[in-house]
Amino acid sequence: MSEFTFLTGSEDWWRQAVVYQIYPRSFADANGDGIGDLKGIISRVPYLKALGIDAVWLSPHYPSALADGGYDVDDYRNVDPRLGTLAEFDEMIDALHAEGIRVIIDIVPNHSGSGHVWFQEALRSPKGSPARDRYIFRDGKGENGEIRPSELVSHFGPTAWTRITEPDGTPGQWYMHLFAPEQPDFNWDNPEVREDFLKTLRFWSDRGVDGYRVDVAHALVKNLANGHLPERASYDLSLVKHDGSDDLFDRDEVHDIYRSWRKVFNEYNPPRMAVAEAWVHPPVNATRYVRSDELHQVFNFDLLDAAFNAQQLYGLMSAAIDLMKSVGALPTWALSNHDSPRVASRIGEVQSRALALFVLALPGSCYVYAGQELGLPDGVIPDEARQDPIYFRTKGTQKGRDGARVPLPWSGEAAPFGFTSGSPWLPLQESWKELTVEKQDTDPKSSLNLYRSALNLRAEHLVDNGEVQWIESPEHGRKNNSLLAFKRGNVSIYMNLSDTPIEVEVSGKLLVVSAGIVDGRDGKVTIPPVSTIWLHH
Ligand code: BGC
Repeated sequence: MSEFTFLTGSEDWWRQAVVYQIYPRSFADANGDGIGDLKGIISRVPYLKALGIDAVWLSPHYPSALADGGYDVDDYRNVDPRLGTLAEFDEMIDALHAEGIRVIIDIVPNHSGSGHVWFQEALRSPKGSPARDRYIFRDGKGENGEIRPSELVSHFGPTAWTRITEPDGTPGQWYMHLFAPEQPDFNWDNPEVREDFLKTLRFWSDRGVDGYRVDVAHALVKNLANGHLPERASYDLSLVKHDGSDDLFDRDEVHDIYRSWRKVFNEYNPPRMAVAEAWVHPPVNATRYVRSDELHQVFNFDLLDAAFNAQQLYGLMSAAIDLMKSVGALPTWALSNHDSPRVASRIGEVQSRALALFVLALPGSCYVYAGQELGLPDGVIPDEARQDPIYFRTKGTQKGRDGARVPLPWSGEAAPFGFTSGSPWLPLQESWKELTVEKQDTDPKSSLNLYRSALNLRAEHLVDNGEVQWIESPEHGRKNNSLLAFKRGNVSIYMNLSDTPIEVEVSGKLLVVSAGIVDGRDGKVTIPPVSTIWLHH
């Protein structure tokens, strides 16, 4: 592996990194099959470089039946042939590293795909065999085992148990899957499972991967001792025990796994990092995942569904900063991801720009979901094009997450806007004509150019520039939902959430504005409606 120079060269580069999430199938398609691929990513490295990100997080790139968009992994140490080859993966890493961009990949340890060799072996093997012990197989209840072993709902719909047909053709045991039936849960009490993941972490780390996003990191260990089986009718976080003894989530034992992972990460120079997707409550439990001998970051999802409301945003942001500070860590921020509605659709395009510019000035690291920089809204998906298992498992009562996963519009006047020369796996909207990268590239007022400027200025003025000091404004307070502001070092950040201009008494040089024209004179600055400004003093 060659030596590269990174924009943030230190071992803890991730602490304040801007990480760009690529959903590989939706980013760029180089071979015309309608599905984004690694060659497509390689072809867009100059775009990523110009954007000014520090790292890319790649959603799963593994061989998969795509029952859950790749979160059903059939082989942890390979590349989905539809996306490319291992050689192309290496090429992609080198191309990104050459531009100083690090690479985080998704690791999915709670469950495999049902096509995984181990699951297939388990299906062929008898009850009680070592092959079945890698997963969670149990006998059913009732005279003939026809009743599911426990009342456990799946995240994606009715039940978390599916019955198999034994090799001799008779109805057989049941296996547990917290998500789709094509995602059988591993038995993390089995040492072979633990060993295999360490092998996988070394496999990718050896290839130069810089970090990992750990899927459902809080769920790996379940209470299965002495014949016990978890029961649950809903995944409302308030039903989860908070003291590490819940049957399913956030159990104390899960942390032993991350301690063993951290040892592997530390075998490398620089050490590999990991960010946990851990849905835990109360928030203080999240800090347990970032203890110095465990993972490095934990996602904060609060802003994914926060209203565009000064009081609420202040509460969530200041709490996240304080919480992480209590353990010497910095927060992470995300406004969109592949599991939630896009921020531009949720709170509005202009609002989402203002919020993004505000968040990009906060301490910690920012996760930006591909397309967010374009101000992309959710796609409108006809039911017959839907792919998300949530849609199918709830019989259409929940539409699922496909709207946020529509491919990116790159160029041209008609869909699929240069994403593919073929037919895209999800339809792009004709109305995105003005949102293509090509159109936005040359428009100084575009969302894309706002992100480019902000990322540039953030690197120059805000990284390592001190703690947040909230600015109280008696006249335009948070309570009347008009202004939210803070200072970091010699930069002040003001977000006007209201639909009228706000004048504040402050002077300084305008670094960037998310929308509208800023008027400044005589020690006063007028912030345009629904807009954020950064001022340098
Ligand atoms: C991922 C989802 C996925 C689920 C199961 C989540 O945390 O982000 O996209 O469906 O895990 O793997």
